[in-house]
Amino acid sequence: MGLQKKIKLAVLASGSGSNLQSIIDQCQQGQLDAEIVLVISNNPAAGALERAKHAGIDAICINHRKFASREEFDQAVVAKLQDVGTELVVLAGFMRLISAIFLQAFPQRIINIHPALLPAFPGLHVQLKAIEYGAKFSGCTVHLVDGGVDTGPIIAQAVVPIFAEDSESTLAARILEQEHKIYPQVIQWFAEERVIIDGRKVQIHGHKAIDSVLINPPIAEI
Ligand code: GRF
Repeated sequence: MGLQKKIKLAVLASGSGSNLQSIIDQCQQGQLDAEIVLVISNNPAAGALERAKHAGIDAICINHRKFASREEFDQAVVAKLQDVGTELVVLAGFMRLISAIFLQAFPQRIINIHPALLPAFPGLHVQLKAIEYGAKFSGCTVHLVDGGVDTGPIIAQAVVPIFAEDSESTLAARILEQEHKIYPQVIQWFAEERVIIDGRKVQIHGHKAIDSVLINPPIAEI
């Protein structure tokens, strides 16, 4: 870190922006070779806009309701992203589907974070869905964005246990803690040009997968 040219990030967020905040914090602490050049929200009331302004980052609202179609909205977003020289588009709780226009403007350079272990539980309200399903683990996934809903190639995942007494909010908080760790790390890997994409398989140059197993409930060693 530090010797690298800074990768230019644009962060798109619709909500509170805690993932945006974790990226801002790590940039400010010099832990990321990245600079957030723009924050865009489709929601005028998004906390993410306030967080960006507080950190002195350019932040704009492009309200999707003011556009006749998804494509026109995406065209407006893409134009802004290109204006500021965006190199990596970071979706952080951005509650809009991405059209082909957007995907073609930033091929393999749009990433998303999802609060479940994909491909299990794509879509919305996934913490509650994992609890109601009776899953023993959940977690979060950083993936490349493609034309589907949470279907793009997986870059990194973190696993958390689900406890019998969990509510949607306790599980969401446990997962968010890990989101705030893995999303900045993935951005740093992009900054270091270590993300190798081969179809659906993504490797991080110089990294091996972990070699350990989690079992829940735990079992005695035999
Ligand atoms: C996170 O749970 C993220 O995984 C999902 O939307 C939520 C955004 O939270 N895509 P925040 O706005 O970053 O706090």
